[in-house]
Amino acid sequence: MKDYLVRVTENKKVAEDLYELTFAPKVGKFEQMKCGQFLQLQIPGLLLRRPFCLYKFDSDSITVAYAVVGKGTEKMVKLKKGDEFKVTLPLGNGWTLQDKHKKVVLLGGGVGCAPLAYVPITYPDREYFSFLGFADKSKVAFESEMSKKCKLTVVTTDNGSYGEKGFPTQALEKRLREIQPDVILVCGPRPMLKAAARLALAYGISAYASTEERMGCGVGACLVCACAVKQADGSVAMKRACADGPIFKLEDLVL
Ligand SMILES: Cc1cc2nc3c(=O)[nH]c(=O)nc-3n(C[C@H](O)[C@H](O)[C@H](O)COP(=O)(O)OP(=O)(O)OC[C@H]3O[C@@H](n4cnc5c(N)ncnc54)[C@H](O)[C@@H]3O)c2cc1C
Ligand code: FES
Repeated sequence: MKDYLVRVTENKKVAEDLYELTFAPKVGKFEQMKCGQFLQLQIPGLLLRRPFCLYKFDSDSITVAYAVVGKGTEKMVKLKKGDEFKVTLPLGNGWTLQDKHKKVVLLGGGVGCAPLAYVPITYPDREYFSFLGFADKSKVAFESEMSKKCKLTVVTTDNGSYGEKGFPTQALEKRLREIQPDVILVCGPRPMLKAAARLALAYGISAYASTEERMGCGVGACLVCACAVKQADGSVAMKRACADGPIFKLEDLVL
């Protein structure tokens, strides 16, 4: 993990209130990163860094996809080519597929699709099925990126204005018997994690979730990101989403 001074190469709108920010190290290269890890971005003018998942990355360039939700992300929209800021990376544990995970479902809600996009690049020898959910047509993103790598990509919108009407968990459930996945990787709002946990339990499929707790330091020191996680002996322990996660076994999360 290291602090980098970076320079913006592109900042573009990709859907309603959703942008992609790409940047490169001012000097040298980024160290090795893993899909599902995240970074802490120092937005110019703000003290507290903001966490964002690695969406696309290599040693020369990183892209984060960000939803505009508050004062920090509103400032990010104004970043332009050549602007400089600091990032700390890589942070967190990232996704790990086991050898037995041959058929993989990627289940994303809104900007929660971003940390799933690099899994097929890291593990190219698996079959992927993606289910991507958005509030409405204006928010739809990631579809072309995911369909390049997945055998099946299903987009849902809550109001049916694009793709299938309903939630991505419903679209997945309809196809679960046909796909018979070995594992589900999920990232999205809490109600979606709960629905995914119910599915995983009902169909006996192992599942992992990337949590998006509010964060402070991002490196395990402040405990702002504590989340309740079941232990092997049945007890519940508070874990730091930044340092112990952000990815946990879905059945262990107290949602
Ligand atoms: C590990 C991790 C990875 C993340 N990856 C991404 C990503 O790839 N793309 C992305 O758009 N966002 C991501 N987030 C969420 C992102 O960090 C917040 O949306 C961002 O910090 C908001 O900053 P802000 O100053 O614009 O909003 P603020 O003014 O701080 O808050 C505005 C609103 O957003 C809510 N909010 C702030 N942080 C979070 C959060 N962590 N989870 C849920 N709601 C929050 C607040 O409750 C408030 O309602 C991630 C969060 C974590 C913990
Ligand atoms: S954000 Fe400080 S311990 Fe996790």
